[in-house]
Amino acid sequence: TWTAVDAYTISHLHPPSKKNSAVLLDALTQSRDEGLPDIASYPVIAKFYALQCRAMRVKHALEIGTLGAYTSIFLATENPGMQITTIEVDPHHYKVAQQNVAHAGVLEQVTAKLGAALDVLPELAKEIESGGKPRLGFVYIDADKSNNWKYVDVVIPMCESGAVIFVDNIVRGGDLVDRAKKDASTAGSRRVVEMVGKDDRLDGVVLQTVGEKSYDGILMAVVR
Ligand code: DHB
Ligand code: MG
Repeated sequence: TWTAVDAYTISHLHPPSKKNSAVLLDALTQSRDEGLPDIASYPVIAKFYALQCRAMRVKHALEIGTLGAYTSIFLATENPGMQITTIEVDPHHYKVAQQNVAHAGVLEQVTAKLGAALDVLPELAKEIESGGKPRLGFVYIDADKSNNWKYVDVVIPMCESGAVIFVDNIVRGGDLVDRAKKDASTAGSRRVVEMVGKDDRLDGVVLQTVGEKSYDGILMAVVR
């Protein structure tokens, strides 16, 4: 039923006749053909992020965990005036992402950087501090879950006041509250929830989600 509801709502609210629908489908097909895992954000969630960016008039968005650039292409094509920086650690994912971004015609909007985010972010911080790029208005963290909190902590000084930070895969089918689950990803989800709650620079909430990628949830935090 969750999948059917997503299919029904997206067919009306983001139908195949939309200008970017073909290149988004191409990005998914190309990613699958190149052997990338099927863990991109799905259309309902990507559209939600794209609308967040538009409503907040975001000038510069950051994504950690490009994968095949599905979300970056969604954000870029829905928000023509916005710049996106996206960071990917896997060279093959990065190559496929660059091809998908080029095919989607958004190379000028999307800057993909290859490397571990904790290595790449200081360079981006310098670009922002020197005025070379606008401060971040939107951040989407969807990478190695054990570093969730480190990523949030490092990006806060790069954000404008009122910026929004989203972190994917927080609820994990309920593992978040299952004491028997002690894996690094679940621990990383707990840590980011607990640290956001203690941090005076942030105000946050977790939204549980159901849909075509099953039961999970996203953390939303606003930078004061
Ligand atoms: C996995 C990672 C993700 O970011 C996601 O959304 C779903 C699954 C994974 O590593 O299995
Ligand atoms: Mg994810």
